Amino acid sequence: MRKPLIAGNWKMNKTIAQTRALIAEMLPGLTAVEGVEKVICPPYLALASAREMLEGTDIGLGAQNLHWEASGAFTGEVAPQMVAELCAYVIIGHSERRTYFGETDASVNKKVKAALAAGLTPIVCVGETLAENEAGRTAEVVGGQTREGLKDLTVDQMSKVVIAYEPVWAIGTGRAATSEGANAVLADIIRPALKDMFGAELSQAVRILYGGSVTAANAAELFAQPDIDGALVGGASLKPADFVKIVEAAK
Ligand code: PGA
Repeated sequence: MRKPLIAGNWKMNKTIAQTRALIAEMLPGLTAVEGVEKVICPPYLALASAREMLEGTDIGLGAQNLHWEASGAFTGEVAPQMVAELCAYVIIGHSERRTYFGETDASVNKKVKAALAAGLTPIVCVGETLAENEAGRTAEVVGGQTREGLKDLTVDQMSKVVIAYEPVWAIGTGRAATSEGANAVLADIIRPALKDMFGAELSQAVRILYGGSVTAANAAELFAQPDIDGALVGGASLKPADFVKIVEAAK
């Protein structure tokens, strides 16, 4: 009942020209797969070109961040309506934003609300660091990020949100969580938090992705888990053949 979703987070990679080339390479393979929601998230400056290339396809476009204010004196920032002119999705609260750019659960919460108000589908990232994991604090950290980041949303708003569980120790390290381990965080920490906040029905309806060193080799095993509804893919989303294989594995 939850449609699988695969989103490619290109991070700070690819110029406009390189974006065009990469999309051209992956487009045939991606469009051939049905039954999976497919999204790519290139850097801001390449979004307009990507939009043109994706017109008429079933591939969605996402930004990697936004600001919560509608307009004004926020040098260097991009407003929700600006994103919504080109995109249907936006990644919010990625661990790199939290680590390098000072994002907090409070700013994530403002961004989620602003994204929803602009009609965007937020992909909200949560995940514990290695130190937190080793200290046995995964439930506290991931549960806390879920509760604070999604605080005060209505059930209707929450029904439009996608969550991505990305353990920080698994991002870009080649060391993915085990499929059972990742599923347990979704089933025992994130869905129960959603149940407390939004009720049992919604907690089962919200899509939760796994992210962190997802590859063409480990994708099928991850997606075989009952609570994992797809992936937020970094490195492998820049490799057309691998990304297409990951999307195929989600079918
Ligand atoms: P990775 O990144 O797939 O390169 O580990 C995932 C992410 O940061 O979203």
